[in-house]
Amino acid sequence: MTTQRRHTDIDRQWWKEAVVYQIYPRSFNDSDGDGVGDIPGITEKVDYLDSLGIDVVWLCPVYDSPNADNGYDIRDYRSILDEFGTMADWEELLSELHARDIRLIMDLVVNHTSKQHEWFQKSRRRESGYEDFYHWQDGDPDEPPNNWKSIFGGPAWTYDDERGQWYLHLFDPEQPDLNWRNPDVRDAVTDVVTWWLEKGIDGFRLDAIDHLSKADGYPDGEPDDPINGLEHFSHGPRLREYLDELAAVFEDYDTMTVGEMGGADIEQVDDYTSMDGLNSVFQFDHMEVTAGPNGPWHPEQLGEWDLTDLKEIINRQQGEIDWPALFFGNHDQPRLVSHFGDDGDYRTESATLIATFLLTLRGTPYIYQGEEIGMTNDEFGSLEEVDDPMTTGIVEDLIADGVADSYADVADLVNYRSRDHARTPMQWDDSENAGFTTGEPWFALNENYTEINVESSLEEEGSVWDHYQRLIDLRNDEDVLVYGEYDCLLPDDEQLYAYTRTLGDETVLVVLNWSDDTVTFDSSTVGTTDAEVMISNYTDSTDDPSTESLKPYEATVYRLDSR
Ligand code: GLC
Repeated sequence: MTTQRRHTDIDRQWWKEAVVYQIYPRSFNDSDGDGVGDIPGITEKVDYLDSLGIDVVWLCPVYDSPNADNGYDIRDYRSILDEFGTMADWEELLSELHARDIRLIMDLVVNHTSKQHEWFQKSRRRESGYEDFYHWQDGDPDEPPNNWKSIFGGPAWTYDDERGQWYLHLFDPEQPDLNWRNPDVRDAVTDVVTWWLEKGIDGFRLDAIDHLSKADGYPDGEPDDPINGLEHFSHGPRLREYLDELAAVFEDYDTMTVGEMGGADIEQVDDYTSMDGLNSVFQFDHMEVTAGPNGPWHPEQLGEWDLTDLKEIINRQQGEIDWPALFFGNHDQPRLVSHFGDDGDYRTESATLIATFLLTLRGTPYIYQGEEIGMTNDEFGSLEEVDDPMTTGIVEDLIADGVADSYADVADLVNYRSRDHARTPMQWDDSENAGFTTGEPWFALNENYTEINVESSLEEEGSVWDHYQRLIDLRNDEDVLVYGEYDCLLPDDEQLYAYTRTLGDETVLVVLNWSDDTVTFDSSTVGTTDAEVMISNYTDSTDDPSTESLKPYEATVYRLDSR
């Protein structure tokens, strides 16, 4: 039993102390048997979330949408998708969460809308006031205005016959980019933001927010880059100004905000997290540690990565970013245990090791649904089994570019990296369709649900779920785990990841054996053997980190009292 340590001299922020749980509603829980997860389905699970101990829910888009990109293509910002329920259902969810002191942040997707949004419909008809709502360019219908590529594969421009011009879409052709240079667009977005804040939400996750500002004149991008043009549409010249305007709206409310910046490096991210109003940013360098020289979406070097490279990136994020947003998975990433751990023999140990890492770093941790039970990647035998437009778009490009002849050549890549791994339905129990739906699920379940599911995880002592819950409890009790300084030990060790967290005279040591070997930790690294185990994913860890060999994927957190 460890004692609770709370400090009185800290500038506390609730969003720094919070543990966030991300919900992808389509795949979470279906309450009405239509095979699609929905809002009442989430409300049914509010007690489940409460028992895990999380403080904030980040809800992926639930707005009205034609679903070209599962809700990230919004048709109407002020209404709820029929399949997900009604606004009254959403209000009930908010009030049930708040009744348990769980806050709710919504996904704000304002780099682009759906093509079916009325703004785009008016814009393509050149209706007064809407002509410049999107990025329209003249040009020969056979020759896009520049070489920019869509993040989902293919060109970033589509010719619109109705208007007789090209429009820009950094993602799917169904997701035209809003023209933020136009002050009317910014006003319209401010209205949407205010409307939701007035409904009592607690903040936003800001989708693709580094792409709002595009370089003037739309210059061609470097032809050899994996995504041509990224340097002109990520972190653009007016981004700071646009974010300042948004931040001014947030500042009037007690919110947390986290921006997704897929294309921004660590220095750029730090510029934004030190702003008032934008609390933190998802920076992606650590997720790309598994990528080869041609970027993550290339069929080479799959699954090969070095722990020392990961440490180097995390050290920079921990040291240079004002307040990091911590994550190792989300709805756009493969399952973390398959990506960074061992989803075979050491699934439980490596899932709990990554959980220990996530919940003992400096920053706000984000848990993606299913991580708390160690859900793994699925297997997609053909492109027909894939739903995600990014995976299909990129595979088509790889075939068109001659990198692959057919799906068979990229099957390993898809099975390693596809966003769909995160989107297989949540595994609640071992009954038919894992208790996710009584109908036909919109997307096939991972067959391992008979073994990996919430019900069995809740029953089993030492399960992945059990460990997440204990880690969250520990973090809530220990200021040092939230606010303490991070210092990496053994930066060159290929198997052990060890670091301390220090606050005042308190020091916590985290030792992670990121390998399936047995490895010894040399306690002279920390200058003491006087330690107390705070938590471990093995039950027989001793209080002396030096006398013991660390077992495969062992993750032990010690309190060092006398240094
Ligand atoms: C973000 C979302 C992703 C979506 C894309 C376009 O990256 O996380 O799911 O496809 O933006 O909105």
